[in-house]
Amino acid sequence: MKKNKVMNEIVSLCKRRGYIFQSSEIYGGLNAIWDSGPLGVELKNNIKRWWLYNMVQLRPDVEGLDSAILMHPRVWEASGHIENFTDPLIECRNCHKRFRDDEITKDRCPSCGAQELTEPRMFNLMFKTFIGPVESEDNTIFLRPETAQGIYVNYQNVMVATRQKFPFGIAQIGKAFRNEISPGNFIFRSREFEQMELQFFVNPDDGDKWFDYWREQRSQWYLSLGIDQDKIHWHEHGKNELAHYALAAYDIEFDFPFGRKELEGVHNRGNFDLSRHQEFSGKKITARFTDDNAEGGFIEKIPFIIETSGGIDRCMLAVLTDAYTVEPEVSNPSKMRTVLKMHPRLSPIKVGVFPLVKKEGMPEVAREIAQELRREFMVFYDEKDSIGRRYRRQDEAGTPFCVTVDGQTLDDKTVTIRERDTLVQVRSKIEEIAPMIRNYIETWERNKGIE
Ligand code: GAP
Repeated sequence: MKKNKVMNEIVSLCKRRGYIFQSSEIYGGLNAIWDSGPLGVELKNNIKRWWLYNMVQLRPDVEGLDSAILMHPRVWEASGHIENFTDPLIECRNCHKRFRDDEITKDRCPSCGAQELTEPRMFNLMFKTFIGPVESEDNTIFLRPETAQGIYVNYQNVMVATRQKFPFGIAQIGKAFRNEISPGNFIFRSREFEQMELQFFVNPDDGDKWFDYWREQRSQWYLSLGIDQDKIHWHEHGKNELAHYALAAYDIEFDFPFGRKELEGVHNRGNFDLSRHQEFSGKKITARFTDDNAEGGFIEKIPFIIETSGGIDRCMLAVLTDAYTVEPEVSNPSKMRTVLKMHPRLSPIKVGVFPLVKKEGMPEVAREIAQELRREFMVFYDEKDSIGRRYRRQDEAGTPFCVTVDGQTLDDKTVTIRERDTLVQVRSKIEEIAPMIRNYIETWERNKGIE
């Protein structure tokens, strides 16, 4: 299938099933801003939960944080974003479309082909607003373009409150905003998005060691999402690609239908951020590290920071595009079924519950089963249309199990359970449904070869 066609189908499935909607659609939409629908919220929350479980809950050396989106404007001077967070913008004098410098080839406008382009001018990607009622230069503040700075300015607070010792990390999930010149590829590059970032504070002597360690950890985490490992790649930043704060950087990339693109950055930020905050705030940010050669056995240094910075929306898009499958129906190979074969841990709905027909007491029993299962899982109850159509709707939603109540259920309290990927149907007792769903995540991972 053509790449554009696949993306168009995924975008339309996302709207149809309630994963992603265009923001303010009834007003014609707002460019590069997206809303998560009911299934999108669940998928995002499942990704976030899995990230927090691995990055915070399982680690005695990492703490969580939720810092504010709005920060003191001096933060962005110190961080270098006011000066450096810019893209070179070029405008076509013929069609008046705007592009990033790197999108222009052969001095031609990518849209109309005219060779009437302006010189590049630097455009800052931060959104501005005002704090308080007076809209003045002095009251200008910014929507954060990364969550990282909220961690840096809080790192001593967290260290004191938790009595962490180096090396230790702070993990945060939150919204970030960038006024991108050329957003696109659905939710891949948008102007409002969510990041999941870890900042790991280390002795500068150990910077390289922890940089390698976190690269390994992060690539393992992406594999644990069940996405095709052949689609995951590393890209090392050359000297001229490095962000203004980075000493070294690698991107984890993914083969999206529109090409190989960045999912997450792993950066050795050195002491850039903390030294700048020390300089701009006038507050001491150095820390004591043991050093056998130093007098007194320790030395004051600014810690190095190893950062892992991923986008939740991009991760969600990777999961959706990897899971998207169109295959012949087993019972009728001339017909195709569309199914999202995603990791059941990430599936927004874990089980669909249906009465075979809307009579003979079946809806009542099915509703009771659904309500009981809701105590532990996200459940979708459906009694509308033929059973085949109901199965297909859940296939498109990525739901791993469908439970059907039929005439036999009323006699012996058994139901049929249909599995999404294999389409195998088994007859089970009602009380076996929950344990089967619980065990299924492990079985699915074993079959996929995930450790
Ligand atoms: N704190 C470092 C930092 O923000 P980055 O490489 O600019 O680094 C990190 O961004 C991640 O945030 C990217 O790998 C990507 O997943 C996500 N991201 C960045 N810009 C984005 C955008 N406009 N839309 C969606 N996700 C974006």
